[in-house]
Amino acid sequence: MKNGRAKISVIGAGNVGASAAFRIAQLELADVALIDIVEEIPEGKALDLAQMCPITGSDVNLVGSTNYEDTADSDVVIITSGIPRKPGMSRDDLISTNTKVVKSVTEQVVSNSPDAILILVTNPLDAMVYVAHRVSGLSDNKVMGMAGVLDSARFRAFIAMELGVSVENINASVLGGHGDTMVPLLSNTTIAGVPIAQLVPADRLEAMVDRTRKGGAEIVALLKTGSAFYAPAVAAVEMAEAIIKDKKKVLPCCVYADGHYGIEDTFVGLPVRLGAEGVEEIIGVEISDEEMEALHVSAGKVKELCEVIDGMGIL
Ligand code: LAC
Repeated sequence: MKNGRAKISVIGAGNVGASAAFRIAQLELADVALIDIVEEIPEGKALDLAQMCPITGSDVNLVGSTNYEDTADSDVVIITSGIPRKPGMSRDDLISTNTKVVKSVTEQVVSNSPDAILILVTNPLDAMVYVAHRVSGLSDNKVMGMAGVLDSARFRAFIAMELGVSVENINASVLGGHGDTMVPLLSNTTIAGVPIAQLVPADRLEAMVDRTRKGGAEIVALLKTGSAFYAPAVAAVEMAEAIIKDKKKVLPCCVYADGHYGIEDTFVGLPVRLGAEGVEEIIGVEISDEEMEALHVSAGKVKELCEVIDGMGIL
């Protein structure tokens, strides 16, 4: 399957995985291998997507399979496998099942594509990046998680709705872990360059921050049988695109913090420059003391989860 085009494997052909494959094909970004443990579903979805390509004008190959050999020589692998939340569950409730799933998936991915860059989407996100990093043995720049792009997009969407302005005018970044302790950077949020505090009263801003923190749960409560997928999928593909096209795009991603922002040995959402090498730099932006404190609380929560995983003896 290898040709002049880049190759992205998407592991998990559920809602997030299939939507990611859709987006990759639509953008004509890369060839796609869509993998699942369930027989025939990935084949069916890949065939459907291949039949979309004449309409979208996309010359990419799409293969659906249960065989990891079809992922061989991937440039980027997006891992979405695992169980999603049901109403009332926190992302952390998924830890035992999804640790086993991500371990097994990562082993099979890396044995077929030892040079790939991994983008994790499985929850609890930050802890699953830790699992994939440990299991893969890949360098810190090659293993990352998608959460900040999604959480920032939610925050941007809520601000745009509140103000009745274009989503394109909203610049906002959410750091920290992908959970209730995530840290929307109010100090750096602007609308067409104007600081948000000048345009939105503090109580409305607080309400939007709160809705962002609970943005995933709001959708789980509505869908009842699963969690959000369109925005998470497109967010993961934005990261893949930055890598494949070597865009040097600055995006909030879950990465290994090794003293960055004063955080030691933890995976947490920070602003990074994404390019062909994966995480090419963790960008140090100025944040308020309050935000720094919240970031450390959030990183501490991730660390606790990783210790739970260590205690399970799975890795
Ligand atoms: C969410 C899930 C995917 O935030 O974590 O919707």
